[in-house]
Amino acid sequence: TYVVTEACIKCKYMDCVEVCPVDCFYEGENMLVINPSECIDCGVCEPECPAEAILPDTEDGLEAMLEINTKYSEEWPNITVSRDPPADADDYKGKDGKMELFSE
Ligand code: SF4
Ligand code: F3S
Repeated sequence: TYVVTEACIKCKYMDCVEVCPVDCFYEGENMLVINPSECIDCGVCEPECPAEAILPDTEDGLEAMLEINTKYSEEWPNITVSRDPPADADDYKGKDGKMELFSE
């Protein structure tokens, strides 16, 4: 599966949702997650994200993010159509330590 990582927080560009063939993105207040049991591992979303926030879970150190994607994709609503990103999205692009800004 692919997972949405911390890099999405407060960026939420939403380009990813338009390309997913199985519509497995779910929307929280300031980030999206992927439902790992629905993701078919096609990889088309990875290059679409301007924040490079989407990675395959085979990369090191993504255990905690995989748990977050699993948990919140069961709770948050499905999103299949993108909207305008937050006005200050670019200010958060590439910033470290965004996990403390995570919002349910
Ligand atoms: Fe959707 Fe494919 Fe990305 Fe999985 S890898 S979330 S199926 S676009
Ligand atoms: Fe987030 Fe990138 Fe999608 S910033 S909303 S994963 S396009």
